[in-house]
Amino acid sequence: MLVLGTRPEAIKLAPVVRAMAASPHFEPLVVSTGQHREMLQQMLELLQVEAKVELDVMRERQELSKLTARLVDGLGEVVHAERPDLVVVQGDTTSALTGALAAFYEHIPVAHVEAGLRTGVLDNPFPEELNRRLIGRIARWHFAPTPRAAGHLTAEGVPAAEVFVTGNTVIDNLLWVLEQGAGRDHFRSDLRRVLVTLHRRENQGDKMRAMGKTLRRLADRGDVEIVLPLHKSPAVREALLPELSDHPDIRIVEPLDYVDFSATLAGCDLVLTDSGGIQEEAPTLGKPALVLRTTTERPEAVEAGAAQLVGTDPQVILDAAVRLLDDEEAYRTMAKAGNPFGDGHATERILAQLAEDFGVDTAAAPALNPLVVPQPDGPGSYSTA
Ligand code: UD1
Ligand code: UDP
Repeated sequence: MLVLGTRPEAIKLAPVVRAMAASPHFEPLVVSTGQHREMLQQMLELLQVEAKVELDVMRERQELSKLTARLVDGLGEVVHAERPDLVVVQGDTTSALTGALAAFYEHIPVAHVEAGLRTGVLDNPFPEELNRRLIGRIARWHFAPTPRAAGHLTAEGVPAAEVFVTGNTVIDNLLWVLEQGAGRDHFRSDLRRVLVTLHRRENQGDKMRAMGKTLRRLADRGDVEIVLPLHKSPAVREALLPELSDHPDIRIVEPLDYVDFSATLAGCDLVLTDSGGIQEEAPTLGKPALVLRTTTERPEAVEAGAAQLVGTDPQVILDAAVRLLDDEEAYRTMAKAGNPFGDGHATERILAQLAEDFGVDTAAAPALNPLVVPQPDGPGSYSTA
């Protein structure tokens, strides 16, 4: 049983679902929690993921406690009724945490995809850092995207024999989507192309409004086109729309489907984002990323030189963006840094390990290509604070 509820979970579990469906050894049963509605629906069909069970837990602006309660209730019933051999969850959303919890209550083992990411700050990102730490206590298989992530888990006492470095499935999916054919790049002009996404809870409110003002100042340069696919969250819309509407060089669009988003990312010059997944995809496509957060659980991109953790101060954000737009050398260095998150074969490694542990004889998965990652030095060191 694969539990997914938000846009990034659909994207990152899609290759696992496709590979299980194509394998004689697995029967994927996808449970869509509906934590996201439109943003999830627009992904599933396109990524060839068919949900067998659909819950409908989204309510506008619902509190995390309500969302969590609805999910534990709904997923508890599904796991109890279906009794799968294994529950797979991905990342750190409320759907992932409650999927793991519901499985635990039914004594069903849990595999965690994208395990071991940490900022070391319990409430940043909020609530995701807590969610992933809790899933780390429940899971039997921890599929870590990088050696650093694996190191976080073993440092927390997870037995090394239960931790596997696989790369991130986001790369598997991105490469698959790019192979499927071209999407539509949503930039319209010959100006410098800046792609922006913002949605994190800890950025919402005044911080996000201030970021909106900064983006407007950036667009006022006159040589920049900003495309911003706007997250469906009302809190995000409230903060950004008043600041960004009616500017000739700012295009606000609805969330893009993955094919168009990949094309738009491939077509941009620079990314400004507080997204997790986009920090992984941008270096894969050679796009410098400015991370508009005070912490990141993906320091590998910063260390590789592909991303910069700029924080949330409006002037610092503006200066960093202007520098990359005006300083060709600085830009080139970031663009050429490379992707430290995987080689596109994470899914094969995950399935091979599960098959082995369930006693199924399969061909060995390819060895992980050398990643540009240093050894872990413990959580907590990647914050601007
Ligand atoms: C969630 C995840 C976050 C992830 C993000 C991906 C949690 C706690 N957070 O945050 O880790 O980075 O998804 O985007 O699980 N909404 C819609 N339509 C949609 C999606 C959302 O209307 O398709 C609105 C609803 O009013 C919803 C609100 O957005 O209540 C917030 O959604 P929610 O899933 O609670 O949190 P996100 O901020 O999206
Ligand atoms: N994405 C997309 N369309 C958009 C914006 C993002 O398909 O309009 C994809 C993006 O490529 C990435 C994922 O959504 O794979 C990131 O989702 P989000 O930023 O919502 O969540 P996070 O990764 O921060 O958890």
